[in-house]
Amino acid sequence: MKILSVVGARPQFVKLAPVADAITASGDEHVIVHTGQHYDPLLSDVFFDDLGIPAPDVHLGVGSGSHGKQTGAILAALDDVLAEHSPDWVLVYGDTNSTLAAAVSAVKMHLPLAHLEAGLRSFNRAMPEEHNRVLTDHAADLLLAPTEVALGHLRDEGLAERTVVVGDVMTDVLFRTRGTADPVAGAEDAIVATIHRAENTDDPARLAAIIDGLAGLDERVLLLAHPRLRAKAADAGIELSAGGVEARDPLNYPALVASVAASRGVVTDSGGLQKEAFLLRVPCTTVRTETEWTETVDLGWNVLVEPDGIAAAASRPRPAATDAAPYGTGDAAERTVEALTEHLRA
Ligand code: UD1
Repeated sequence: MKILSVVGARPQFVKLAPVADAITASGDEHVIVHTGQHYDPLLSDVFFDDLGIPAPDVHLGVGSGSHGKQTGAILAALDDVLAEHSPDWVLVYGDTNSTLAAAVSAVKMHLPLAHLEAGLRSFNRAMPEEHNRVLTDHAADLLLAPTEVALGHLRDEGLAERTVVVGDVMTDVLFRTRGTADPVAGAEDAIVATIHRAENTDDPARLAAIIDGLAGLDERVLLLAHPRLRAKAADAGIELSAGGVEARDPLNYPALVASVAASRGVVTDSGGLQKEAFLLRVPCTTVRTETEWTETVDLGWNVLVEPDGIAAAASRPRPAATDAAPYGTGDAAERTVEALTEHLRA
């Protein structure tokens, strides 16, 4: 079996790591295509290096751009790549513009398409990620869902027959990485924060309110700044290092996991970090009006807030202990390869 993975943005490299290992272990052939959506070394190369991911076989080098331009550039570049490799599966990950472009490309080329992390929904139609994941799910031949909640969404949309619940590959990679690195200086008992979503960074008043909320916390705040956050803050004249906030560069994955584990809490708008905090049993405060990872909220480890609610939520008492495992037990990548093998087109 020949699997062609298309990845392009930071969270996809993290998800690719355990899948690439599982494909190596099964002896199947794996072609890795990097779209180039993320190109800064701190958002791309360090993940390949630290997580032992084989170097991409193909690099499309598309870079940044408006949604249409970026998605279109990837789509245009993939025709020749997919024709050359003619894989048994095109495997796409998550909900970025790279995911959608590769999904459309595979469908147009009549190649079987599998979507890893299928069935997540925010039900917020203004989010680019929501467009990407809904369109990708409906295009895919095989939907690899991380949770029962995701399966429920796919069932509601008439897609249950094409769905297999495999668990969450981010659990696999987190379990394997935990304990392999030291936290960065200052992480102990601090708040680890990340803010990068368009709905939080692109409105200067909202961004200023979020930085105010972080600056008002009693603890030191390590704000791991995505380039988009730095760029939008600079445009709006907002100083990120205010009060106890220290703006730092993004961390590599092992250092991020160690730093979150050592921290007192997380404040974020990242999907991945909400789950990483939960898996490490660190309380999370999410600056969004909804989340795809509802289990973290239902189990009491995550709270959704507006910017003016950051201070109260981040200082709440520690939630009750739980041994619930809604994101699987660390074998999702193996189950992904099994599902691909089982559903191979004759
Ligand atoms: C993308 C995903 C988002 C995911 C995030 C993870 C989409 C629509 N969004 O958002 O779902 O949570 O990745 O990080 O696909 N930039 C750089 N260097 C880079 C990459 C980006 O400076 O290597 C800057 C550019 O100014 C660029 C901006 O960040 O315009 C946004 O990058 P883009 O890839 O469009 O989206 P993200 O915000 O990273």
